[in-house]
Amino acid sequence: MRRMRHRLMLIAALLAIVTTQSAFACRPFGSYDFVEDAQGNVWFTEQDSNAVSRMASDGSVTAYPIPTPNAEPYSLALDGKGNLWFSERRAGKLGRVAPDGTITEYALPIEGAQPFALLSQGSALWFTTGPLRRTVVRMDMEGKFTEMPAPHGWPSSISAADDGALWVTLLQPGETMAQAQGYLARLDRAGQWKIVEQRGAGSCPNNVHIGGDGALWLSDRCRGAIERRDAQERTVSFPYPEGLVQNAALDHDGNFWFVDSTRNNLIGRMSPGGRLDTWPLPGNNGGPFAVAALRNGDVIFSEMYNYNINRFMRGVFEEYLVAVDHRKQIREVEEGEICRLEYAAVIADKMALERERVEALKTAGFKAAPGQELVSGRCLTCHDATRILRARKSDWSYTIELMQAQITMRGLPALTDEERRTVIGYLNRYYNTTN
Ligand code: HEC
Repeated sequence: MRRMRHRLMLIAALLAIVTTQSAFACRPFGSYDFVEDAQGNVWFTEQDSNAVSRMASDGSVTAYPIPTPNAEPYSLALDGKGNLWFSERRAGKLGRVAPDGTITEYALPIEGAQPFALLSQGSALWFTTGPLRRTVVRMDMEGKFTEMPAPHGWPSSISAADDGALWVTLLQPGETMAQAQGYLARLDRAGQWKIVEQRGAGSCPNNVHIGGDGALWLSDRCRGAIERRDAQERTVSFPYPEGLVQNAALDHDGNFWFVDSTRNNLIGRMSPGGRLDTWPLPGNNGGPFAVAALRNGDVIFSEMYNYNINRFMRGVFEEYLVAVDHRKQIREVEEGEICRLEYAAVIADKMALERERVEALKTAGFKAAPGQELVSGRCLTCHDATRILRARKSDWSYTIELMQAQITMRGLPALTDEERRTVIGYLNRYYNTTN
């Protein structure tokens, strides 16, 4: 028996070795989240290449392909033992990369749960399940899952409190931004919710983060504000009226870094005292997406259309991993080449990509059938068709619910029930997993 187990472990270890690619690679991805490990490596999700990957400080990348196809890795968390955990939004699983590189996936015993934001706290993992299921789940180290339904709306973001509880922003979308209702809540380990702040109508809180100084930050697009609540529970609201905080991160000085992918396309920093600095992005076409503040003071971010990692250090941009459309080509790199370019030098590449993208839009298009006009009319306001044409879902309801929240947060008219049915029906028919 024991021998058998050893043999299985050996096979598992060999498999782990062959499935791990180590390369200095300029590869496409589409990253939703970053996390920095104790050695200073940056882990990131690769939605389009279906992997979680690690970038070392010299720019070399090791990819860990996810066994389940089209899993849609979304969020990352490191536990105290050096395991990297990731949520598989579409596959409904959690995955783990152990320090030795072995990947294990855990199917959630919760029907229809699509794990979304993930974090690790003490010996537990917490994750949210998105706008359809509207719950927060806690997984303890015995592998026990406890699901806690949100008292209002759905959990738009989570952050760990130092007493083992969780801070949660709740969003009840409305037809308009003025009708959206927001809440700031705490959820303790036993599953008890406490509404700390009923923010009322015209609020859509998101991006909650707790800093080392105990301050709680959040963004609220509907209020046009970034807010800071200090350890004494005094809240200051800093106006940020024009843009949308897509994603945010705190640095060790307690600054709130964020990326804005509306027409602004910028990286910004709000200081604890409310000083706002912004840096417009060169090229201005990528749609900055996920952001992280590293321990060395650098800030990195991904973009929706340029599959790369950008590093912003002391006011200078650098771009890692050059963008290429993975359907057309993967740019192979010479052994040992570090795929890292000065930002200014790749603007031409970005522009070429932009031209390709416009071309793809002209020629690809959506399938001509009833519903096409509605989809083109309502879905291309924020991102282009490639994002949709590339995606394949067995059921689009979930994505459309997510988009409904994005639409509300950007102050656009929500899809009516009928429009929703038409869009879902059209996409389920022509853009499902079998075609
Ligand atoms: C108001 C802006 C906005 C509109 C309008 C919008 N989206 Fe999105 N979409 C986003 C943002 C932001 C993301 C990235 C965040 C995410 O993945 O949740 C995204 C991501 C996506 C993705 C990739 C994630 C996934 O689930 O595969 C797909 C596909 C998508 N949108 C489809 C659509 C469709 C279909 C419509 C039309 C009903 C639509 N979008 C309308 C903002 C928008």
